[in-house]
Amino acid sequence: MENDDSLETRLVTVGKVFDSPPAVHPEGPRGVWSTERSCYDFMANHVRRGSRTLETGIGLSTVLFAAWGCDHLAVCPDPGQATAIEAYCTENGIYTDSLTFDVRRSEVALPDRLDSGELDLVFIDGCHGFPLSIIDWFYAAGRLRREGVVVFDDVQLPQVSLLIESFIEPDDRWQELETTPKWRAYRRMSEGFLGEEWFVQPFFPAQKVKHHKRTLKDAVPLKVRKKLARALRREA
Ligand SMILES: C[S@@+](CC[C@H](N)C(=O)[O-])C[C@H]1O[C@@H](n2cnc3c(N)ncnc32)[C@H](O)[C@@H]1O
Repeated sequence: MENDDSLETRLVTVGKVFDSPPAVHPEGPRGVWSTERSCYDFMANHVRRGSRTLETGIGLSTVLFAAWGCDHLAVCPDPGQATAIEAYCTENGIYTDSLTFDVRRSEVALPDRLDSGELDLVFIDGCHGFPLSIIDWFYAAGRLRREGVVVFDDVQLPQVSLLIESFIEPDDRWQELETTPKWRAYRRMSEGFLGEEWFVQPFFPAQKVKHHKRTLKDAVPLKVRKKLARALRREA
């Protein structure tokens, strides 16, 4: 496949692979469970050769990450799907040197890889049962660099939208980039592991206020507060 690293070439590759996709999921429409073309075009716009990328679930997207020359990790527990992707790439002259498969469930593989370095783009499209997209986001998007991009597919499913609507939308550490009814992308405006204490989280504002009140109260020693109260009583 084409060897240059231009956006134009990446978009041409999307067209070719989208029109003639790999038969990865025999039960899927066209032999593959793919998403909208616009999602692949979006990702073509946000990667380049050598971008550090990770996806949960594999398919047409995996072929694209390989063709784009991304340093790509594809996590999926089905070795047959990985073999089908490798065969498709060979038949179509797509190099797979920068493509690595982790043939385990994402909930097992991702925690194991938490210290494997920063990522530029994460595509979450593996198991869609609750709470798997949350687990994938926590362990994979937690490795995104500042200004890295996370893309969720199937945001029409409540199992996926629960995370997005309740915790990502109200949090300005995630900036929405593009959306359709099927997929949505965010830019990460923070960095580091996503595990954090409850009182720094913006999605439960009432609890945050209560916490600050309590912290202020604890900052003034009881003796001083008693003295102040006596002085106030004397003034009254
Ligand atoms: C919708 S398909 C992915 C489609 C692909 N992203 C594309 O654009 O063509 C979902 C994939 O998730 C995989 N999968 C299912 N459970 C998984 C899990 N626990 N961890 C990782 N992948 C899983 C399925 O085998 C399948 O390959």
